[in-house]
Amino acid sequence: MDLFEYQARDLFAQYDVPVLRGAVASTPEQARAAAEEIGGQVVIKAQVKTGGRGKAGGVKLADDPADAEAKARAILGMDIKGHTVHRVLVAQASDIAEEYYFCYLLDRSNRTFLAMASVEGGVEIELVAVEKPEALARIPIDAGTGVDAAKAREIVAAARFPESVVDQVVDVAQKLWTVFTGADATLVEVNPLVQDPRGKIIALDGKVTLDGNADFRHPEHAELDDAGAIDPLERAAVAKGLNYVKLDGEVGIIGNGAGLVMSTLDVVAYAGEQYGGVKPANFLDIGGGASAQVMADGLGIILSDPAVKSVFVNVFGGITACDEVATGIVQALAMLGSGDTVGEAERRAKPLVVRLDGNNVVEGRRILDEAAHDLVEQVDTMDGAARRAAELASRA
Ligand SMILES: Nc1ncnc2c1ncn2[C@@H]1O[C@H](COP(=O)(O)OP(=O)(O)O)[C@@H](O)[C@H]1O
Ligand SMILES: [Mg+2]
Repeated sequence: MDLFEYQARDLFAQYDVPVLRGAVASTPEQARAAAEEIGGQVVIKAQVKTGGRGKAGGVKLADDPADAEAKARAILGMDIKGHTVHRVLVAQASDIAEEYYFCYLLDRSNRTFLAMASVEGGVEIELVAVEKPEALARIPIDAGTGVDAAKAREIVAAARFPESVVDQVVDVAQKLWTVFTGADATLVEVNPLVQDPRGKIIALDGKVTLDGNADFRHPEHAELDDAGAIDPLERAAVAKGLNYVKLDGEVGIIGNGAGLVMSTLDVVAYAGEQYGGVKPANFLDIGGGASAQVMADGLGIILSDPAVKSVFVNVFGGITACDEVATGIVQALAMLGSGDTVGEAERRAKPLVVRLDGNNVVEGRRILDEAAHDLVEQVDTMDGAARRAAELASRA
């Protein structure tokens, strides 16, 4: 789970990392009150889970509380790279002498943790990494020993922080490591880590990703979850234990195995080009050995997506037996077909193209033939079924 900047700031404060005073606000009036409380110049910062907010106009200086209210009014509701701003952080404004970069992350490809630091912070660090790789120090960190004072000095020396701030950055580096391990994060990034004109080091912006695998030992992390921002269908899928990602097309997709589902998305997108650019509406992997119930749950979620015009069920039976899948489809349609509200009638009206192959395919096909549901069509090949599903979606 990615945190908002204000949540990262609060977390940093808990671990004694130097941050500026700040408060989160979801209305212009709250922003004004926060600015009054903080006093002096403040910075109004859009709280969206994407970088480059400064460049996008989502970070603005305000001279007084009235100005803070006006700036918050301008920023709230703004769209930044597809993210709507629902909250702003009102932070004490700081003069800045230097902007640095510092982060810890889980380096999966090298099976280790990694510290990265640079005295060329503030800007997009990806650019520094590409254009001036020597300006970005990368120091692997042993999970067993972590970051002690000596390791912190090694990182700070490699990044060539100025002598005058070395001790402070060494201290902050150790504290950020306690954030990283204490909160079970996979990323703790500070960009910029600034030196103010008096030479004090402050974390001005924070990005934190928490490891969901460690949620069981962090009940407090549940509160950080921004459930309202998650797509409601994705939330329903998580509740059912399904691997579902909403996309922006019209053909609902269900398959077994992530690889098969990924290639199904490709063939549908390809086939859809012939039908006015029809695209897949989602990714849904029901996994290996899926039961009829899982199939019914998945179909239920896909059919309740108003963007879905047709559904392509693509199953290659390995561990998953095709007869189970067929039974799931029949059950799901019976469940969905039992109500007669407008919503349910709409859900029923979507055509299903089913391609079954592999384990118990004969029995699976027989079950579907026998059910003879007027919305279900069987097609033998993956390409043929993708074309048919795209065609049906384009007609709806
Ligand atoms: N509290 C602050 N006081 C003064 N300047 C700030 C403050 N917060 C951010 N800035 C300036 O705005 C820039 C962008 O802000 P930042 O929080 O890093 O957002 P993003 O990384 O999304 O662009 C910073 O590099 C810094 O120059
Ligand atoms: Mg930043």
